[in-house]
Amino acid sequence: MSFPVQDIRRDFPLLSQKVHGKDLIYFDNAATTQKPEVVINRMNDLLRVGNSSIHRSVNYLSDQMTRDYEAARDVVKNFIGAENSKEIIFTSGATGSINTIAFSFGEAFVSSGDEIIVSELEHHSNIVPWQMLCERKGASLKVLPMDENGELRLDLLPSLINDKTRLLSVSQVSNSMGTINPVEEIIELAHSYDVPVLVDGAQSVQHSAVDVKKMDCDFFVFSGHKIYGPTGIGVLYGKEKWLDRLPPYQGGGDMIDRVSFEKTTFNELPFKFEAGTTNYIGVIGLAESIKYINNIGFEALKEYEFFLRDYTLEALKSVPGITFYGTAKEKVAIFSFLMNQIHPYDAGLVLDKLGIAIRTGTHCTMPVMEHFGIEGTIRASLCFYNTKEEIDRFVEGLLLVQEMFT
Ligand code: ALA
Repeated sequence: MSFPVQDIRRDFPLLSQKVHGKDLIYFDNAATTQKPEVVINRMNDLLRVGNSSIHRSVNYLSDQMTRDYEAARDVVKNFIGAENSKEIIFTSGATGSINTIAFSFGEAFVSSGDEIIVSELEHHSNIVPWQMLCERKGASLKVLPMDENGELRLDLLPSLINDKTRLLSVSQVSNSMGTINPVEEIIELAHSYDVPVLVDGAQSVQHSAVDVKKMDCDFFVFSGHKIYGPTGIGVLYGKEKWLDRLPPYQGGGDMIDRVSFEKTTFNELPFKFEAGTTNYIGVIGLAESIKYINNIGFEALKEYEFFLRDYTLEALKSVPGITFYGTAKEKVAIFSFLMNQIHPYDAGLVLDKLGIAIRTGTHCTMPVMEHFGIEGTIRASLCFYNTKEEIDRFVEGLLLVQEMFT
């Protein structure tokens, strides 16, 4: 394995610190990822000497910021393979993007008696906005179940779709178990019934190349902070033919064409969905993180992350009493598990004292925990800046936890 992980680690200042006197091991990448120096520097520079509101003024700084902002839109467009940059809307995150569609699509196309489908392994952000829509419109939410491995029961999907189904929303990768869902198959099936599909890419865009045209999804969403970019920024992709037909989500500056007290007309795409002063510095930071990933290249990144995944699975076999939740054949390096009767919080606290950052609890997927009849899990989520040595130290930490609590 010739992946230059030590060089890459030097790009991420946060990784070289000590926590409780120990070298930090950051295994909480599904919650948020760390930022390379290029992203931090670019955003700092903009805050120091570049800041000016976009699309509003003729001054030099505003013009420059507007150009950089629109160039960032092109970077995102190319990154996910969209047809044109009008289809790229900047939001506050994957949650903001899903809420936008739940509102706007709901206003245009959902009425009383209609149905929306989600899957059982979604995080709360891909459940609650649809529940709120259903509540508002008198529609109902249908759930595609998963099996004991945390794989979706595609065989049951045709029985859930009918002429009342308005939209299906599914994640490409499960945040709590790491399952890679066969979204292309789901989309093909849904489209054969004329049902549009939203794909939640919050846990997928950072692990492998996405091509929304090839996938043929109608909407695709992701967050900046999970792909080595800033927090508070996200992307909503929508096919132009859909976005054109949807009403705006929020009103305010930038999304308007003309305003009078009698009537307001709206701006064209993509601005129709970008009300108010947007997080333009975040947008440019996100483009910087995407360029950073592009420089590494997904082929090498994916190969290394799969190596880490397989190495972790093998290493965890030496820890007695582990039960895994989410054992799908196709998965990313996200591991949810319990050890004997040890409470995840106890394990999390001990690991933290060893400098190891993991997440414990429900991971914003209470229905997944309910499926397995548990309160929560220990979750380790790895990415390309993690190492084999860190996995070894993690296993030693788990063995210590075992010794302390059993
Ligand atoms: N951000 C949440 C996580 O940790 C959903 O997976």
